[in-house]
Amino acid sequence: MNFVPQTTYWLVEGDEFIGRVTVRHILNKLLEKEGGHIGFDIRPSKRRKGYGMKILQLAIPKAKEWDLEKALLICNDNNEAAIKIIKANGGVLQDRIKQGHGLPQKLRFWIQLKPPEDYS
Ligand SMILES: CC(C)(COP(=O)(O)OP(=O)(O)OC[C@H]1O[C@@H](n2cnc3c(N)ncnc32)[C@H](O)[C@@H]1OP(=O)(O)O)[C@@H](O)C(=O)NCCC(=O)NCCS
Repeated sequence: MNFVPQTTYWLVEGDEFIGRVTVRHILNKLLEKEGGHIGFDIRPSKRRKGYGMKILQLAIPKAKEWDLEKALLICNDNNEAAIKIIKANGGVLQDRIKQGHGLPQKLRFWIQLKPPEDYS
């Protein structure tokens, strides 16, 4: 098994858990196809209140702290909320990965976190 280092942050309000976001410091072959650098979820009872948008917004400076120049985010093509959140936070669609028959496709987005390295 090829594990990578990752850090999980919790979004809390007072002493109440709202959701979590995980920043993977590097990718492996599996994460390149599913998972990506950043994964987030909001507890079901707290959904549709803007926390999903907020948690990814808060994760971006954290990903920069881990020295990521750009972050890969992956979600299913039927996950309307995740698509909106990723695009609103600067996600640019790279491609779609087909899965088995009847399964949603995976959408791969990149969020540029830092200006690209200038090798000139
Ligand atoms: C995806 C997820 C994080 C969204 O969290 P959330 O707190 O409900 O999202 P928000 O309230 O910030 O909503 C963001 C946008 O998505 C829309 N939205 C939220 N849930 C939706 C749903 N079930 N269907 C359609 N649109 C939805 C909201 O209306 C909002 O749109 P707007 O910006 O036009 O107003 C949450 O549903 C979740 O944890 N899902 C399971 C894990 C997952 O899919 N993670 C993402 C992939 S890594």
